[in-house]
Amino acid sequence: MKSLSQEINIIKEELITAIASVTNETSLEAVRIAFLGRKGKIVDLMEQLKSLPVEEKKIIGPLLNLLKTEIQEKLDTREILLKKEVVAKRNLLQKNFDVSAYKHNELKGTSHIYTQIIADLEDVFISMGYDIADGPEVENEYYNFESLNIPADHPARDAEDSFFLEKKGMLLRTQCSNIQARAMEKSQPPIAIFSPGRVYRQEATDQTHDFLFTQAEILLVDKNISVSNLLATAHTFLRKIFNNESLEIRVRPGFFPFVEPGLEIDASCPFCISGCSVCKHTRWIELLGTGMVHPNVLRSSGIDPIIYSGFAFGMGIERIAMIKYGINDIRLFHSSKIKFLNQFS
Ligand code: FA5
Repeated sequence: MKSLSQEINIIKEELITAIASVTNETSLEAVRIAFLGRKGKIVDLMEQLKSLPVEEKKIIGPLLNLLKTEIQEKLDTREILLKKEVVAKRNLLQKNFDVSAYKHNELKGTSHIYTQIIADLEDVFISMGYDIADGPEVENEYYNFESLNIPADHPARDAEDSFFLEKKGMLLRTQCSNIQARAMEKSQPPIAIFSPGRVYRQEATDQTHDFLFTQAEILLVDKNISVSNLLATAHTFLRKIFNNESLEIRVRPGFFPFVEPGLEIDASCPFCISGCSVCKHTRWIELLGTGMVHPNVLRSSGIDPIIYSGFAFGMGIERIAMIKYGINDIRLFHSSKIKFLNQFS
């Protein structure tokens, strides 16, 4: 059997090996518990000390106390060193950190193609002196229909064409023309507004039709406004927005109850030269409805049609994007296909 003084020497050697293997605070704490803990080596030796004769106790007791102090000092020294090592490691990492090497792989967000086209159109119209106007998507029948000269028996008011809400007389607006009705009611001419927004129609979808799409409405009311002003405005903004002097447009008569005369403007199909499924073999894509504001609409908004006249346009933003970027299916806009959306980032 080993004497206590021999064990003291063995423990000293064990401590040197244990401390040398410490790499972090957790392993240091494990060493502390193994040597100084309640069930550690020192407590064990103290227990053995109790059974020694008094003379030996006098010799071994102080040696054990010295050992305990030595262990504590060695642990403290190692702890200080460990902390210094952590700081040095962190400093080295910071020093060698190359910010230019960092590459984020996550997908980057970008504004939707609607937002981009609307922003481009807003720039064009703001530069021509227009204000930006907004209106509600949940609308009442008066602003969506009656104020726009669309009487109760008009087919557009058929329950099969519009999304009517449970609350009587309320629906999801079918066109952004509700904004012009509200704007004219609020102020007297000159009125020049550009109003983009979402509209809803209960209709079957195909490559060029959706049940939820985005429109932008343009309204100008002042003295002496004529069809020439309308056509000049159409040419100006279509050329700017498509950045294309050779884009063909055609103007044909159209009927909208809130304008007289009413016109429709089509753009040449960018996908074909002799007709395709996108343009339904007509070579043209319907782009916008327009016309001179009907005197009844001016009158119902409190504007005198003898003194003032005006024009209005209503266009489909998706149709503009389709022509501008060669997109052949309007349903892609709501498909959430990242590959499709990424093209516009
Ligand atoms: C209107 O909505 C009229 N409020 C436009 C207007 C305003 C005319 C002011 C005169 C004066 P229309 O239903 O034609 O008109 O729609 C206008 C444009 O919206 C169309 O030219 C087309 O570009 C787009 N559009 C119409 N229906 C759909 C649909 N289902 N899906 C996608 N775009 C559509």
